[in-house]
Formats: sequence, C-alpha cells, structure tokens
Amino acid sequence: MTLSIRRRSLTRLFFVGIFIILVKVFLYWPNSSVYPYSRDPYQIREAGVLDLVARSGKALDVQRHKFLQVRMGRDDREDIFSDLVKEGVQDFWDKYQKPYIVNAETSNMDAQSVYTALDTLLSLNGWVAALCPTLTRPFAQNKYEDAYDDLIAQNHLYFIGIIVHSADHFLTDQLAVIVQLSKRLGPSNIFVSMLDYSSSDSTETLTDLAEAVLILLGIPFRIRRVPAMTADPEAAYYPLEEAHMRNLALEPLHELQSRRNLKFYRVIWLKGFTCPNDILETIKVSVANEAAMVCGMDWAKHNDFFIFSDRWRTRDILGDQFRQSPSSSTPDAGPPRDKLGAARYAQHLPFQVFCCESGTHVVDPAQSYYQGISYRAGTDYWNATDSEGRSGDPDANRRAGAGQSTGAPERAGSAPCLDSSQAWFCRDLWVNKAKEGMKEEEFGDAIEVNNAKRLRKREAADEENDRRQPGREVDPDANVGSDYDAMPDSEGGDSELPPLEDTDDSRLSVPNSVFRPARIMINPRCVTTYADVSHTQLALDLFGPERDNDSPLEGVGKYVLEDWEGAPEGFVCQEQRQTGGRKAPKTQRRLEFSIHEELERRT
Ligand SMILES: *[C@@H]1O[C@H](CO)[C@@H](O)[C@H](O)[C@H]1NC(C)=O
Repeated sequence: MTLSIRRRSLTRLFFVGIFIILVKVFLYWPNSSVYPYSRDPYQIREAGVLDLVARSGKALDVQRHKFLQVRMGRDDREDIFSDLVKEGVQDFWDKYQKPYIVNAETSNMDAQSVYTALDTLLSLNGWVAALCPTLTRPFAQNKYEDAYDDLIAQNHLYFIGIIVHSADHFLTDQLAVIVQLSKRLGPSNIFVSMLDYSSSDSTETLTDLAEAVLILLGIPFRIRRVPAMTADPEAAYYPLEEAHMRNLALEPLHELQSRRNLKFYRVIWLKGFTCPNDILETIKVSVANEAAMVCGMDWAKHNDFFIFSDRWRTRDILGDQFRQSPSSSTPDAGPPRDKLGAARYAQHLPFQVFCCESGTHVVDPAQSYYQGISYRAGTDYWNATDSEGRSGDPDANRRAGAGQSTGAPERAGSAPCLDSSQAWFCRDLWVNKAKEGMKEEEFGDAIEVNNAKRLRKREAADEENDRRQPGREVDPDANVGSDYDAMPDSEGGDSELPPLEDTDDSRLSVPNSVFRPARIMINPRCVTTYADVSHTQLALDLFGPERDNDSPLEGVGKYVLEDWEGAPEGFVCQEQRQTGGRKAPKTQRRLEFSIHEELERRT
C-alpha cells in the first residue's frame, strides 16, 4: 500500500470520528426535548421534529412503529472511539447546551441543531458516491435525472440487504448510497437490513454511525450483529455461512410479510460500491423484464487495470464461466462467452445469464423469497478440520467411512455441485420457474410420460464413468474466489473445460428448453467496484467518452429482452469440497443440469 493511500485512509478515519461525535451527541442526549428516539422501548416516541419524513398512513412509518428501527446484538465493548466520543459528548454539553438550557422554550435551539444535522446528513455523499454524477455512462443516462420519475411515482417498497463482514471502508459509501436512495424513493419506502457477521474491525463503530443516520432520516432498519456460524474460520464451510448470512438478513422481510402483511417490490443486495443511479436503472431493468434477478457487474483492480471479478458465481446462458477480461478489452473479448450475451454486452445492453451475483443485484421477492426459496448450500462437503473427517451429511459420512478417511472422500461424478449458495439459488430459481410454468400450462402430464428405463440406463452410465475417472484434475483457475473474490489469478489461467459430450446418452431425456425460463440477467451498465478502483477510468474503459449525440433512453427499448433462452443442459461447477473458510481450495468440473430430474427429485 502506498503512503498516499494510507494518509487518505487516516484523513477519512478522522472525519468519520468527528461525524460520529456529532451524531452521538444528538442521539444519546439525555432528556433532550427534541430527542426523537426514546431508548425506553415502552415510551411513546414523539413526532414533530422529523416531520420531514413523517407521512401518515405509511406502512413503514417509523414514527408510529418503533419496532421498525431495531438494533440487535449490539457490541458494547469499548473501541478506539469510545473515549473520544464520551469526551466529545461531555464537551458539547458543557460548552454549547448546558449554558443555554433555561426552560422549555429554548428547546427550539435543539431542534435547530437537529435540522442542521439532517442537512449535513442529506448531503452525505460518501467518498466515492460524490463522483457518481460525473461518471460517463452509455445513453447519457446520468444526465436525465427524471429518468426515474415513473418508478419513484409508483411508491413501491424496497428492501435493502447488506452483509458486513469486516469491510468497513465500504460501509460509509453504502450508507451514502442509502441516503441518496431514500431521498429519491422516500425514507418510508425502504427498509434497510444490515447484518454484521462477526466483524473484527471498526465495523462496529460504523454500524453505530449507520444506526444514527437511519434514525435521524426516519428510515426503517434492522441492524444485527451475529457471531459466525462456525467459530474457527478454518473449520467453516463458506457456502453454508454465505447462505446462513443471507437468510438472517432476510428475516425482517419474512416477518413484515407474515405479521404485517407487507410485501416488498424488490430486494436490493448492496455489495461493494455501486452508484445510486445505476441501482435505480437496474430496478427499472428488473421491472421492465419481470426479471427474477438482475445483477450488476463487478470490477476489481488487478495490477494497473480492472478485471471482471465475480467468476465464482456468474455463468453465461450456456453455463460457461465468464472471462476475467480487463475493462479495456475489446467488446468481443468481454466477460460473457456466449454469442448472444457477448453481442448485447458490446452494446451495453442487459443480457440473459444462467447465474449471477456480481456485486449489487436486485431480486424480485415474488419470484423467489415469497415462494419459499431461501439460500442454501451443499451439505456433503468434507470437514478437513475434523479429525474424523466428518461431513455435514451423515450419508456422506457413511460413504466415506468416518474415522478412517485421510483425505476428501470420493464423490460421484453426478453428485450435486458444492458451489456457492448463490449458484444454488440460481438453480432453485430455474426449477421454481419451470414448476410454475407447468402448473399454469398443465403440461406436467406430458413430461411424466417419460422413459424411466432410459433414465436408469443413464444413471448406470454415469456411475461407470465415475469409476473410469477417479481422480479429478486440479483446476489451474481455482481459488479465483468470489469478489473478496477479487483475488487476482495468474495471467492466462483462464481454463476452459470441454463441452458436455454430445452423445446420445448425455442428452437430457426432457430438454430444459421445454420449461419456462427463469429470468436472470446482467445489466452491464450497473458497475460495482471495490477498493482502489479509479471510477473515472473504469467508466471510460467500459463505455468510452459520453458523446453529445448520445440520446437519452428511448423508453424501455434499451431495457427489454425479447427472447428468453431455456437453461443450459450443463454448467461449469466450481466447487468448494471442503472446509477452510472462504479461501478453501476450489475444484472444477462440468456438470449436467436437468430441470426435469430436479423436479422429479423434489416431488
Ligand atoms: C468441522 O469440524 C470441527 C471439529 O469437529 C467443528 O468444530 C466444525 O464446526 C466443523 N465444521 C463444519 C462446517 O461443520
């Protein structure tokens, strides 16, 4: 790390410190007449000062329902800011408040202080977010602020999910993005669910800051800190932790539905850093296409350029892995490999994929969470830290002969893929959509008239195959990881697997193309970035300079995909077969994906 970066970080830390003092002074003010948030949960909260946000009749009205702003599992340990904050509060009280507090009438001065703080907060623009309006985007989308008026006028509810895991430098900017979104969508139209997953850095202080900001702005939230599922990171199975974190963050979504009959229109998972307009545009893409999921694209720094980074979870519509292309690559060498996707990527248009996550992504809960889909992961991983080599799946234990194994047990070539929880989620979306289509079109019967003998024959062939190739090649591309994940892999490590053999035996008995396709897509104009990325340069790389003759978005034409492909018959399965946390080694194989078989297995 260079000196200048370190100096910049220090300056940032200093400003955060000052800001926290300011906010805490307002929040933890004892007996303040304008103190908007009572720490006594039974006391009726006063309305008034925050009229700015109080709109009667709103379901998510934090003034009326205090359970809408909840902090769970606060970490009360002292941190490096504790003394600073305590002294700051005392100092502020002694110098600026105490001398002027004479009677109730002077409380308007307190009110003024809160208004001033609100003003400061609303202009909170983060360190990166401030740049957003200046970044070049195709079709001049940044120049037309009213492009989102229609969406905003519809007054829908949005659920924002954030998982924080020792990543404090993003949190302030993510907060800025939330503030910007709340300005546009309305504070009582969003709910923020922030899960602090056993962070060990200054995230705690930053979640305090987030809490303060959300309270002052009247944004409903649940900020929750939980310990890791597996205390020893080396003994953790990352995909399982990933699923666990996501499901915890979604708890308020389900509670608000079951207890208050509130349904959210879209769920926005904030990851890394994404500009507010890009998020709004992605929501528009999601709505125009009735998409189950729309992802942005992740770009991380790699030497002196930026590369597409979420290759662990992203698969094109043919099931192939994306290329780790630099942002400056020619359009035909861009990340998606499939022809259709590549062509649309080259025009900066949304394209269909088999699976994605790629930073910030927008999920339609009506097509997923509200239908009972939750995040999950494979269970027959090998516990490398356990002396007995047990796995999460008792069957696998038996197979491996617990107590005797010295290495990862063999798994059948057709065994389920032990990949990311997002990859499981995507497959669930495909299968669920197919099921929905069958219910509606009642062609289920036709599918049932399927040759069971042929299926059995194929299974036998699979087993034969396994016996013939016991060892699996080590993937030179392994450990590319998710985007923490932005781990550079060696140049040229872009492995290609041979396509599934197109013999009669490997053809699916019922092709995936007969089922209704899941609508999962990538909006390449939604750029998600990580530390050290020059946003200006990245935007220029990706989209070139904005031209004066760039026309504004022509209606929804630039958003909508006309033809939807069926699921690929196979995909590149990049799996973590053993414990060892996020960085556990990954192996790779190509695996068949049969929606028909998935449906049969589940009924
Ligand atoms: C692996 O085994 C260790 C030791 O028995 C245990 O503490 C840990 O929770 C296991 N990990 C998983 C992911 O099951």
